[in-house]
Amino acid sequence: MESLLMNTYARMPVVFSRGNGAYLWDTSGKSYLDMFSGIAVTPLGHAHQSVADAISEQAHRLCHVSNVYGNELGEELADRIDTLVRSGYDQPDTTGDHTSARGKVFLCNSGAEANECAIKLARKWKAWHALENTGKGDSPGTILATEGSFHGRTLATWAASGKSIDSQDYKPLPGGFSHIPYNDISSLEDRLSMGDVSAFIVEPIQGENGVIDPDRGYLAAARDLCDRYGALLVVDEVQTGLAKTGRWFAFQYDNILPDVVTVAKALGNGMPIGACWARAEVASAFRPGDHGSTFGGQPLACAAAIATLKVMKEMDAPSRAVQIGNSIDKRLHTGGAILSLSGRGALRGIVLESDRSLDVARKALENGLLVNAPRPQVIRIAPPLIMTDEELESALDILVSSMEEVLR
Ligand SMILES: Cc1ncc(COP(=O)(O)O)c(C=O)c1O
Repeated sequence: MESLLMNTYARMPVVFSRGNGAYLWDTSGKSYLDMFSGIAVTPLGHAHQSVADAISEQAHRLCHVSNVYGNELGEELADRIDTLVRSGYDQPDTTGDHTSARGKVFLCNSGAEANECAIKLARKWKAWHALENTGKGDSPGTILATEGSFHGRTLATWAASGKSIDSQDYKPLPGGFSHIPYNDISSLEDRLSMGDVSAFIVEPIQGENGVIDPDRGYLAAARDLCDRYGALLVVDEVQTGLAKTGRWFAFQYDNILPDVVTVAKALGNGMPIGACWARAEVASAFRPGDHGSTFGGQPLACAAAIATLKVMKEMDAPSRAVQIGNSIDKRLHTGGAILSLSGRGALRGIVLESDRSLDVARKALENGLLVNAPRPQVIRIAPPLIMTDEELESALDILVSSMEEVLR
């Protein structure tokens, strides 16, 4: 039967009907190990007891109230996100510009919305500063982003995404976005020095571009430059966030505190929820009516996110991601079909010598394993952090044999 769903995804020929832990089952009853996690979404795997209980109890109590009223669960979630964003930051800035003081959180429903909030906030903040300093509130608030980046599929987040540069679709795109090469500090300085940039938005690892790592210290250097030229540093942790790289947030490898951090995907372990964290001084640019979302931060999604973060904290999810990463490094040898491994912890790219990653992903599916192919030469894996060592070993065995079948 022809699908009535819009043709926006190149769907694989399988329909899943249930999941448990690291496993999914299709409608015919066949089981699969899941190293795709719904594009890096389910760190606790499928049907996790604590998350399922939290959702079910909350569904019986209160699913939704408007954001014009108080929100206990939203407050608790904001507190947890704020604590995680600032955790491990051991060099509070003495200038008072970005101390380790508490930030503020806007809750929404997806990664694109979290970034949309960041973009609006950066522009409002820039205009607000210009008004204070020059008496004029019409300063251009260029958002600087990187080539190859991905920040979402709303018009503004698509315009921010480096992937839109060569696309003729959806013109005219919103203006005020500019792009520089990723991992290129001198281009960043050249562009910031022009003086019109309100924010530099950057992924700590470019996930959709094929799990591309920048050099260590890239974000620290970007932090310094943003400070020097008066731009906000917005770190998009939608894909890298919440433990999978081995830190709660990947920017924590650089021991910096960004001005704005966006997160979604893993936050609700599958419930749609996103968040935009900002330093309190930056967040104060927003006034009631400046931004909002009917569903953003509703109690049902917050209950799922709180349960997810509680379990992740109890299990020390960042350490588990490091262990998983070590096992991946041990099992997947470079040389032969594998040119290199990218990413950190449990968010990894396997760079093939040939451009047949999609064939490998299809073969793996046939063999009972979910992986994905963000680029013709790259297989991406983001196993759930609850995956046992035995399950991980089996999953990597299937991946290796699928690669051998396709690439021999
Ligand atoms: C880095 C990054 N930002 C933003 C997004 C958009 O998130 P969403 O699909 O939840 O809107 C994605 C999605 O893959 C992403 O990887």
